[in-house]
Amino acid sequence: MLFDSASNVDTAGSHDSGLFDSIAAGIESRGYSINPMALPPEVAQALHAHLQEMEMQQFSRAGTGRQQDHVLNDFVRRDEICWINGESPAGRVWLAWANQLRTHLNRQLMLGLFSFESHFAHYGPGDFYRRHVDAFRGEANRVLSLVAYLNPDWQVADGGELVLYRDDEDAEGLRVQPSMGTLVTFLSEEFPHEVLPASRDRYSVAGWFRVNTSVSTRVDPPL
Ligand code: OGA
Ligand code: MN
Repeated sequence: MLFDSASNVDTAGSHDSGLFDSIAAGIESRGYSINPMALPPEVAQALHAHLQEMEMQQFSRAGTGRQQDHVLNDFVRRDEICWINGESPAGRVWLAWANQLRTHLNRQLMLGLFSFESHFAHYGPGDFYRRHVDAFRGEANRVLSLVAYLNPDWQVADGGELVLYRDDEDAEGLRVQPSMGTLVTFLSEEFPHEVLPASRDRYSVAGWFRVNTSVSTRVDPPL
């Protein structure tokens, strides 16, 4: 049947299912997936165009969970962020795309991803984010991190790589250039990572899929 609900769902999802399959396969086998220039161009362009229109006052200095300690904060990260809450059409396009990815990963990997939060990030020249993890083991909050880059014509000499370390001992890591449309997905508790300083403005969207902690603490209380 052409218009039953099942075929509608498949049609809606089929658009990016090659990409979503590749992300799922990477997460399953290695815990991460790096997809150069893979974000659908209409999503990347919408976000990029929105960034051009945004006023820099909409961004504010990012914290590290210990925001009262400004000295520590400056030492750890220097970027500015702006949360995406679905107020702009571009933000809604992005959130809808991330939601399709969430549904796909839940189906394929049974991750039980429940919600998604994300922000734009701007790193001015020289800004960085030192080696960190996005979630701490046992806190059952951020499960999967997703970063999308919004920098056309990025050159190797511009720097600003994301370095993804395979574990706590890895000193070398994998370097990813923040080129337009490149996507990086990784298990939030497993992969320390850092942002190296760049010589030009560097824009990204970072997001986190969460499990429903209120449910998970009830079902699975800490011992
Ligand atoms: C973060 C982060 C990476 C990047 O915001 O937690 O690690 O490349 N961002 O922007
Ligand atoms: Mn991070």
